[in-house]
Amino acid sequence: MAPLLAIRDLRIAFPGEGGGWVEVVRGVSLDVASGEVVGLVGESGAGKSLTALAVLGLLPPPGRVVGGAIELDGVDLLGLREPELRRLRGTEIGLVAQEPAAALHPMLTVGRQLTETIRTHRGGSAAEARRLAAERLDRLALAEPAQLLDRYPHQISGGQRQRVALALALAGEPRLLIADEPTAALDPTLQHEVVDALIEQVRASGSSVLWISHDLPLVAEICDRAAVIYAGEVIERGPVGGLFRDAAHPYTRGLLAASPSFDATSVGALPEAIPGQPPDASQRLPGCAFEPRCRERFDGCDREIPAWVEVAPGHGAKCRARAAELVRSR
Ligand SMILES: Nc1ncnc2c1ncn2[C@@H]1O[C@H](COP(=O)(O)OP(=O)(O)OP(=O)(O)O)[C@@H](O)[C@H]1O
Ligand code: SF4
Ligand SMILES: [Mg+2]
Repeated sequence: MAPLLAIRDLRIAFPGEGGGWVEVVRGVSLDVASGEVVGLVGESGAGKSLTALAVLGLLPPPGRVVGGAIELDGVDLLGLREPELRRLRGTEIGLVAQEPAAALHPMLTVGRQLTETIRTHRGGSAAEARRLAAERLDRLALAEPAQLLDRYPHQISGGQRQRVALALALAGEPRLLIADEPTAALDPTLQHEVVDALIEQVRASGSSVLWISHDLPLVAEICDRAAVIYAGEVIERGPVGGLFRDAAHPYTRGLLAASPSFDATSVGALPEAIPGQPPDASQRLPGCAFEPRCRERFDGCDREIPAWVEVAPGHGAKCRARAAELVRSR
């Protein structure tokens, strides 16, 4: 079956200091099937948000897609004009941006924003839309939803704003929800409740989700599959069970070892954290982008671009060490 969202070899660039363009997203490929929850994880600056924004045609200028394809149910999103993209946002694709306040109109009450989206999507009376809006807020663990509907975004807390942004993204019952660090502004005690409520709603409606996060244990818990992005490239992807139990790429292993909720011994003897910093996008290395930080690097890793190796069905990684192991085991 064709995936609902298909991102193929996506490349995004910004103008460089000395002229020319610098690619910050360098060939991201990712599928989200209908009804599937897919995680996108990686360090700060890896290109997660830009990938998400490109899907919606919302790249911050002067950023530009310089290569690849994005399809939603077979429709080429990169070929759409702004009015068509605008129609898509909120109905076909819902976005909870990393900065949720940006999604809310500062001059309109929470209730007005929610009810307008609900009525655009399913029609019905204003009273019915208001009842549904309150119900949606209630499901996201927001107390006194009726009062909240009459408030303006600046009159509520950051955590409340984030949940309102989530409710708004879901109000049009989109086929695909893109959630960029959707629980980052929430109190840790609330995170679980909100995530559970959100996932319950999307699972019940059959929506698909692209869930962007630094939180590996959470991704392991709620996602079906995940992709790991490093320096603008997906370097490993697979079903979460295999990906987090038998991580293949040294970077994924390092991330897991640095994540206190995972038992590092389950992925072998690993460093506590990943030494060094991701490479500067303007100083692209000819070989594996992770080479300067990799404890498994060997001759040629700094020169040869690693190919994809399938380590288990549906689970692949871009690493020469894994490719060499596979050759030895045959
Ligand atoms: N407006 C911009 N102008 C120039 N470069 C940018 C811009 N936005 C992002 N970048 C570059 O693109 C890279 C990827 O940015 P992106 O926001 O996608 O990272 P991210 O993975 O979402 O990180 P975080 O976890 O911190 O949100 C960054 O390292 C940054 O250098
Ligand atoms: S290709 Fe080489 S440098 Fe890159 S992650 Fe694999 S072993 Fe490390
Ligand atoms: Mg981001």
